[in-house]
Order: sequence, then structure tokens, then C-alpha cells
Amino acid sequence: MEKLIIEGPSKLKGTVEISGSKNSSLPILAATALFGEEYTIKNVPRISDVHTMLLLLETLGAEFSFYSNDVHIDTRKISKWEAPYDLVKTMRASVVIWGALLGRFGKAKISLPGGCAIGDRPVDQHLKGFRALGHDTEIVSGYLESFTSNNTGGSYRFEIKTVTGTENLILASIFAKSETVLYNCASEPEVLDLINFLSSLGAKITKTGGTIKIVPVSSLSKQNEPYCVIPDRIEAGTFLALASLPGNDIEITKCAPDDLVSAIEAAESVGSVVKLGDNSISTHPADDLNSISLDTGPYPLFPTDLQAQFMSVLILAGGTSKIVENVFPNRFIHVAELRKLGAKISLDANIASIVGVRGLTRASMQASDLRASASLLIGALSASGRSEIHRVYHLDRGYESIDNKLESLGAKIWRKNE
Ligand code: UD1
Repeated sequence: MEKLIIEGPSKLKGTVEISGSKNSSLPILAATALFGEEYTIKNVPRISDVHTMLLLLETLGAEFSFYSNDVHIDTRKISKWEAPYDLVKTMRASVVIWGALLGRFGKAKISLPGGCAIGDRPVDQHLKGFRALGHDTEIVSGYLESFTSNNTGGSYRFEIKTVTGTENLILASIFAKSETVLYNCASEPEVLDLINFLSSLGAKITKTGGTIKIVPVSSLSKQNEPYCVIPDRIEAGTFLALASLPGNDIEITKCAPDDLVSAIEAAESVGSVVKLGDNSISTHPADDLNSISLDTGPYPLFPTDLQAQFMSVLILAGGTSKIVENVFPNRFIHVAELRKLGAKISLDANIASIVGVRGLTRASMQASDLRASASLLIGALSASGRSEIHRVYHLDRGYESIDNKLESLGAKIWRKNE
């Protein structure tokens, strides 16, 4: 196991390029299982979650190569429809293979994903949606087993907006016998990216607000040209949080500012002057940060996946800031670790109150989940002295070469075996 060592405080300066989106790459790669063909997907980040998805597809019978950031995948020989426990337990997002296998084979068996560090993460909406659309689904010995009894399409209204739930129902409906309409769908840019990928292969999907209509097709077409995944808005937002800290001077490039409106507003509210290009964001941070209130919510509201990183900015703001976590109410595991740096944060259910401090001092911290790790990294970069972050594999699940990117901005950061 590796740990990260960070010698702070760092003044970061320069340009950073954003990688392709993790949360787009995973469902798009899963979607290649829906119809046996050869596909090229570009701008795929080299992160461990992507490797897990590729391993899952390989276990099912796919063959792939992954050079630089291009995945070439041949899914014609996929013959299995079971996602085993060992892979699903390492990555909850492997649940998106469910819809693809159901759409292709009319059956799928997926290990029940269970909870994770950010709390109980039910899949009841996937289940109810599948049942409403003619896929009988039962939980048997820790597995979700689905069989298509009558894939006539139909409609389902999500009781709560769910990203992977929306993606799963889209995937299962492409080859239905008649039209499917899904209401109250998630509108995250990654859902749109999946729709765009499927549409580029001839799928007939329209999205109007939270309503998605799928007119079935009998097959998908051969890929004419490689599909390029959108930039990772959460990685960009993580660098935006860093760029909002006094003394830093970071230009974020190869990103999609339009997908980051709520995070840009948060950066401006803490006092940064933000300049937007077509694919870039330049930020001039304030010398003294303002305290602010943030409420997380489904897109386009402030993303839960950036809550921890912006908390690491607000611990240095003047006054008291407030964060209300509305998506995953228990997603505050990073708080105990940030307190080790000297942060003053109190919790009351899903509300964090953050009293700004003048400075932070080094600590040894434990990463607990992907985005929490990023917040510890931001905290450690602000703290004076040598900090350590253990269990860095959480960070490697979703950030491509983040230590190299930080080093090129001037951070003193390196890895060491535990
Ligand atoms: C996706 C993202 C994750 C992000 C999350 C919320 C991927 C691979 N992951 O996760 O990074 O943090 O969206 O933006 O895209 N819920 C139910 N029942 C369900 C499904 C979800 O109650 O059947 C609840 C969840 O507990 C949560 C909320 O709905 O409170 C949103 O979760 P959801 O959008 O499903 O998250 P994921 O798709 O797992």
C-alpha cells in the first residue's frame, strides 16, 4: 500500500490539463456490452475504476487494449451475464453493467453493491424501474437477478433522481419492443454523454428536462468514428477549489466550464475572480476568503462530489461557513481527518458548520473514499509541515496522475510504500 507525503504550505502556479470524465467513461464502457461490436473510446482516464470496469468486461468475454487514453474494445464475444461480487465490491459503479446486459441478453445477475464509506447506497430505484419496464428482478443470495419477461417498454417515474439508475434504465430500453419514457431523470452531464454515445450508434433517445424518451431500435450501427469522453468536471472542480486558495495561481485547461456553473459560483463567492475561456478557467484568489453557504443537490445544483474539496477551502475562510449535504447525508468522514490539521468543523446531522482558522498544521490522515481523499490533499497542501495521507488507493480510483499534476504546479508531493 502507498501513502502520499506532502510538504506544505504550497503556492501552486501554472497550468493543469483535465483528464476525461470517470463518471462518463464507466457507463460508456459498460454500454459497449449492450451490442457486440468493436468500439474506440478516447479521453478515457487511466484510473483504477476504469481498470476495474475493463476487467469486468473482460470477465464477461470482451477483449480490449488501453494505450495512452484510448480504449479499443471488442464486445462481440461477450457471453456471460453475471457481474461477480469481487469486482462489484471494489467499485459500486459497476452496477451500470446491469442495464447493458439486460438490454443484450434479457437477463443479468449482479452482485448487490451494498453500502460504502459515504453511507447506505440503495438500488431500489433501479429495481423498481426495471420491474416497471418488464424485467422481473429479485434479490437471491446477495445477487440481483433480472429476467426480461416482456420488454414492451413503458414508463417509469424515478422517486429520487439517480445517475446510475437513469443510465441503467436507458441501457435496458434501447432494444425494447416499443417506446420507453422515463420521468424525473438525472441530468448530470455524464448522463448526457452516455446518451450522446448511444445516439452516435443510432439509438433514438431524446431528453427534455428530466424526461427521457427512448424509441427502440433493433440493433446499433458500427462505430463511424471514435467517441471522445467529456472532461471530468469533478477533477476540474477539485483544481478550482485549489485555485481559490490565497497565493495560488492556476489555469485549468481542457475542461468544460459550462458543466461547472455552481462550482464556479462557489469559487466567486469565496472571493475569487474567475475568468472563463471556451475550455479553460483562470482564477485569481482573494487574499482573505469569505465564508459561504453551500447546499449540495442533483445537477445543476452544487455537486456532492465537490463538497469535501470545497470544505477544505472554507476551513481557511473568515467567519462561519455552512455546508448542507443533501445527496449522501453521511458524507462527512473527511471531517474527522481535517480536524487533525486544525480545522474547526462541527456536525449536526447533514449540516457542517465550519469556523475559519488562520492556518493549518501538518497531520497524518487516513483517506476513506475518493473525494474525501482529495479534500485531505487540499488541506495538506495548505498546512505547514510534512503531512501524510494513508490509503491513497482511494485517490487513484478517480484522479489520473494527480500527484504529478500537483508537482508540475509546484507542490512538494511524493509517494512512499507504507
Ligand atoms: C453517481 C456518481 C457519484 C455521485 C452520485 C451523486 C457515477 C459512477 N457515480 O453515483 O460519483 O456522487 O451520482 O451525484 O456516476 N438513491 C436511492 N435509490 C436508488 C438510487 C439512488 O435512494 O435506487 C439515492 C442515493 O442513496 C443518493 C441519491 O439517490 O442519496 C443519488 O444517488 P445516485 O445518483 O444514484 O448515485 P450514483 O449513481 O450511485
